[in-house]
Amino acid sequence: MAKCRICGGAVDEFFDFGRQPVSDSFVTPETAGSEFYFRLAAGVCTNCTMVQLLEEVPREQMFHEDYPYRSSGSSVMHRHFEAFAHRLLETDLAGDDPFIVEIGSNDGTMLKTVQKAGVRHLGVDPSAQVGDFARADGVRVRTAFFEDATAREIAASDGPADVIFSANTTSHIPYMDSIFRGVDALLASDGVLVLEDRYLGSIMEQNAFDQIYDEHFYLFSVSSVRAMAQTFGFELVDVEPLTVHGGSMRYTIARPGKRSPSTTMTELLARERAQGLASPQTYQRFAAGVRRSCGELMDLLKDLRAQGRTVVGYGATAKSATVINYCGIGPELVPFICDSTEAKQGRLTPGSHIPVRPPAAFSEPYPDYALLFAWNHVEEIMAKEQGFRDAGGKWILYVPEVHVV
Ligand code: SAH
Ligand code: TMP
Ligand code: ZN
Repeated sequence: MAKCRICGGAVDEFFDFGRQPVSDSFVTPETAGSEFYFRLAAGVCTNCTMVQLLEEVPREQMFHEDYPYRSSGSSVMHRHFEAFAHRLLETDLAGDDPFIVEIGSNDGTMLKTVQKAGVRHLGVDPSAQVGDFARADGVRVRTAFFEDATAREIAASDGPADVIFSANTTSHIPYMDSIFRGVDALLASDGVLVLEDRYLGSIMEQNAFDQIYDEHFYLFSVSSVRAMAQTFGFELVDVEPLTVHGGSMRYTIARPGKRSPSTTMTELLARERAQGLASPQTYQRFAAGVRRSCGELMDLLKDLRAQGRTVVGYGATAKSATVINYCGIGPELVPFICDSTEAKQGRLTPGSHIPVRPPAAFSEPYPDYALLFAWNHVEEIMAKEQGFRDAGGKWILYVPEVHVV
């Protein structure tokens, strides 16, 4: 049995998606075929309950100069981070000369607000291009992987951080021991580490199997994050459920004994026990759900093709790599996918090589059906594309189950 990357316990594998390409490797017609492949399989630790991948992709294969994801691609996410930055400015960053470090600052969507308030900050992100976007907005960024050594250097040059914030990034980092050693070196004695990530409870509840891909090395729950914090000498003191990305959680971690644990945390731990997030049956049910969804989605797409209906994909998400490659969706079923990210347009999806085109291509003319791969942005996208509905178009979703609306 594989060993847990957090506690060394035994990891019980519950799903094997087989050989899968790196999810954000949008290739050009010239580089198609050069994608890095690995075995995508997920398991749950029988000791600390952390859900994790069985195989680690070398980090340079995922996060580099050409990493295409932009946090600013969703106006909902933009408002979400802006609101949280304002809250921090009024609370943990309200003291004398405060300092915040963001791990995985991407294009500066969150730190922009902090920068405008004139508060000392530093974003750390290894993907060079996203850092350039942030710098163009005046955000201070260091192009590097946050880890033990980086954190020590920042502590030496800038002093202790009152807040270390990280959204949708720590789950991408297998080497959590190094992260927490870094946090220990950098965080002020009464500072907080705030993590935000997709929530395992929502993923299981909605059978959102496409949240499993290379970058999502861990799927966090309150129970597993509490154990993780404790393993590395910290304490989880608060949690806050969030609606973004199909259900997320914000975790506040402090040095032991510095803050009193909230009642929300206790309530959510009880809810997770009731939901069975530590029980093998939950993961067996999930595995059956993945196979069912995939089968139903393929049947639907093949039926539509047989009826001569047109289908276009919407949102060339990293998540879509799992659905597309595991279920076996190719350009013969979905001839192209619309996506607003310039860095993805004109490229081909990893593995399946479906062309990515700008959203303008969606209405030229509208297809009969649109397969929504960015289902976590369903409200934002449906509102933006109301014209498609008005023209009689129908959306296909596969979370929580395959359905047409
Ligand atoms: N925080 C943003 C970006 C999430 S995408 C948001 O929530 O929208 C994940 C980001 O983490 C990428 O920009 C990637 O380059 C970065 N990343 C990956 N490993 C990292 C590490 N060790 N340290 C800092 N950033 C990292
Ligand atoms: P995410 O699910 O990882 O956040 O990725 C969302 C993808 O969907 C990203 O490539 C941008 C794209 N997108 C659109 O094309 N139009 C939109 O309105 C939104 C919100 C996202
Ligand atoms: Zn464990």
